[in-house]
Amino acid sequence: MNPGINPYQTYDAEIIQTKEETSMIKSFLVEMPKSLEGKSIMPGQFFQLSVPGYGEAPISVSEVNEKTLLFCIANMGSLTQKIHSLGSGDKIALRGPYGNGFPIAQVTGSNLVLVAGGIGLVPLRSVVAYFFHHQDKFKNLEILYGAKSSKDIIYKEDIKQWRHKPNTIFKLTIDKPEKDWNGNTGFVTEFLSASSSDPSETLFQIDKEFSQTHVFVVGPPMMLNSVYKALSQIQFPPDKTFVSLENRMKCGIGKCGHCNSGSQYVCLDGPVFSWKTLQAMPNEY
Ligand SMILES: Cc1cc2nc3c(=O)[nH]c(=O)nc-3n(C[C@H](O)[C@H](O)[C@H](O)COP(=O)(O)OP(=O)(O)OC[C@H]3O[C@@H](n4cnc5c(N)ncnc54)[C@H](O)[C@@H]3O)c2cc1C
Ligand code: FES
Repeated sequence: MNPGINPYQTYDAEIIQTKEETSMIKSFLVEMPKSLEGKSIMPGQFFQLSVPGYGEAPISVSEVNEKTLLFCIANMGSLTQKIHSLGSGDKIALRGPYGNGFPIAQVTGSNLVLVAGGIGLVPLRSVVAYFFHHQDKFKNLEILYGAKSSKDIIYKEDIKQWRHKPNTIFKLTIDKPEKDWNGNTGFVTEFLSASSSDPSETLFQIDKEFSQTHVFVVGPPMMLNSVYKALSQIQFPPDKTFVSLENRMKCGIGKCGHCNSGSQYVCLDGPVFSWKTLQAMPNEY
């Protein structure tokens, strides 16, 4: 690291717009700090967001545009509660981007299956945005999203658009049946099962050789486990499956050791790992 440069230097970013996704989750569109303009910020990377006096936390970028960054934040504790109280014109501090992000270069030219559980859709939304901005670089996109209940569904406006995009399949399920819910129920892993009611739509089941499909997964540890089992059952290759982890972090830059798992620092070596790499890490997932 360059001596004289403070690695914890933050940049102020003005909030342009906020949007309530659910009662606990809000999206924040913020201006791109001048110092980050033109910098490469890839899907799956994260920033350390802070408000003086309220702490700092890693938050994934959910869309990058020339002049803006989009974040989606669950109200979980001291910092995120404070951020939820902010509105357009207020400022947050951020530093980053950090982490490796999803291996976009490696998956270029293939089908992408995104499996999201709950707020795991946030980092994957940056992949969706990237796919639509660079559609000529990929084959097809399939988004499989599981939410706890209909009240927990985020990005409802985006989802309406995704359903009509070319070369795109979108499937949504909620955990349990609800009055007035006509969609799928059950866990998102059911979409992956070979006995799924409409397996023809699951891209890796069309690509029988698994040679042209990659899977990205983000969700809570329980869900990661069942996705792992479902993919193992159909022998989907672990080196074509990538998972983004959300370990507790402090510095975000490989200095404090808060995020490590075995020899890997999730902030530096991750947060995205192939399932093959995860298999060699301590069994936490
Ligand atoms: C790479 C990465 C990307 C992330 N992206 C997002 C994102 O896009 N959006 C988003 O909403 N969140 C994201 N998170 C999670 C977010 O960083 C945490 O929820 C963060 O802790 C919130 O900070 P806080 O100060 O508001 O809450 P905290 O005070 O940190 O509390 C958050 C929750 O964790 C519990 N908790 C607090 N301390 C501990 C502890 N030591 N051990 C176990 N549990 C504890 C609290 O009880 C509470 O339920 C991401 C995390 C990582 C690592
Ligand atoms: S968060 Fe400090 S080393 Fe990863």
